[in-house]
Amino acid sequence: MTTLTVRRLLIDLKTPFAPDWCGGDAFLSAFFNALSMSFPVGEQFFIDAVRGGLAALPPEAQERWLTEVQGFVGQEATHRHIHAQFNRHLEEQGLVNAWEPRARKRLALLEGLDPRHALAITAANEHFTALFADWLLSHPETFDGAEPRLRTLWLWHSAEETEHKCTAFDLYQALGGNDAWRKTWMRRVTLVFLSDTLRQTVYNLRLTGQLWKWATWRSAGQHLLGRHGLLRESYAPWRRYFRPDFHPNEQDGQLSRDWLAHNAAQFREVGGAA
Ligand SMILES: [Fe+2]
Ligand SMILES: [Fe+2]
Repeated sequence: MTTLTVRRLLIDLKTPFAPDWCGGDAFLSAFFNALSMSFPVGEQFFIDAVRGGLAALPPEAQERWLTEVQGFVGQEATHRHIHAQFNRHLEEQGLVNAWEPRARKRLALLEGLDPRHALAITAANEHFTALFADWLLSHPETFDGAEPRLRTLWLWHSAEETEHKCTAFDLYQALGGNDAWRKTWMRRVTLVFLSDTLRQTVYNLRLTGQLWKWATWRSAGQHLLGRHGLLRESYAPWRRYFRPDFHPNEQDGQLSRDWLAHNAAQFREVGGAA
């Protein structure tokens, strides 16, 4: 079982921030804002999926899983709460969350299905988040000039995503989930997640009047496709998910542990599970 500590982030999220809070970079700000808009609905879905998976286990196995599931739920519930606060500022800036209603409609289609489907979808999304988290933690310069409290928010979230990246995957395996469905859901999640991220980022840029600026496109090219770009660096680890012997643990968690050790003053531990 994995140890998952729940932490309360000690940053000010009441004071508003500028629309281009990420170092004055319109693309990065719009991109992170888009992702944040997906978190309240997405992370609630992950919580429900993992709880549903736990309930589907035989009682003796539930006991073994309970503490890890509680840790997972505690971390994701905290992320939802913090990002909902962040998103309220985005609304006040005039941004519109079109991702959430689309996601809600899609998620309604899953009601009544075997709980392993929701778990496979969660495991695929958690692989995505773990890749993204790893990229952010290895390129903290992405936040050069960004609001320090928001830099902390994103790196804290990244560190915890790395910590709990195995929970949904392992629970799927414990319930006898097969490889074919695991991969099928990864293919679907990839299409949906990339298109939703792109659509919301473009929408954010349209609303802030930054879409047709050269600097916006230059930043997108550099941060997504450049030498150290997100898509370039994440492609190989994304592909590894399709190997029959893949396990999320093969992705090293050292950057996450280092960040948490060096930034302990930024949060307070409120609970944990071993
Ligand atoms: Fe999260
Ligand atoms: Fe997560």
